[in-house]
Amino acid sequence: MQKPGILIIHGPNLNMLGVRQPEIYGKVSFETYLEELHASFDEVSLGYYQSNHEGDLIDCIQESPSSYRGIIINPGAYTHTSVAIRDALTCIQIPVIEVHLSNIYAREEFRRVSLIKDVCVSSFVGFGMQGYKMAIERMMEFIKAGF
Ligand code: DQA
Repeated sequence: MQKPGILIIHGPNLNMLGVRQPEIYGKVSFETYLEELHASFDEVSLGYYQSNHEGDLIDCIQESPSSYRGIIINPGAYTHTSVAIRDALTCIQIPVIEVHLSNIYAREEFRRVSLIKDVCVSSFVGFGMQGYKMAIERMMEFIKAGF
C-alpha cells in the first residue's frame, strides 16, 4: 500500500533557518532537520515546499490535496497578515496543522495574532524544530482516524 503523504509548507524567511536569529530559531537548517524527519517517519511520505512569495504558497496549498493527505504549515510572518493564505486553507478538504518554532504568543504584540489558527485542526507553538515531529505524529492520528 502507498504511504500517506504529508506536506510541510514554509513561508518567507524560513529558508534562512540556521542563519536567521539563531537565538530564537536555532542553529540547524530545515534541510538538515528534514533528513531527521525522513529517518524518523518511515511510514509516511514527507514533502517539503518553501516560498517567500504569498501567491506561490497559495498555489501550493490549492494543489496539495491531489498528492497529500495533510498539510503542516508554518507561514512565517504571513501567519499574522495573510487573509489570502487563511482563505486558501479553507478551500481544501485535508487537515492542516500550524507550527511555529517560537512562541508567537509571548513575543511582540504584532505576532500574537494567528489568522490561520482557527482553520487548523491543531497548533504546535514554541517547541522549536520538535514541533514538526509532534505535528507529524498528530497528523498520522488524524489520517488513521479517516480524515
Ligand atoms: C515564526 C514566527 C513568525 O512571527 C515569524 O515571522 C517567522 C517564524 C516561527 O516559526 O516562530 O517567520 O512563524
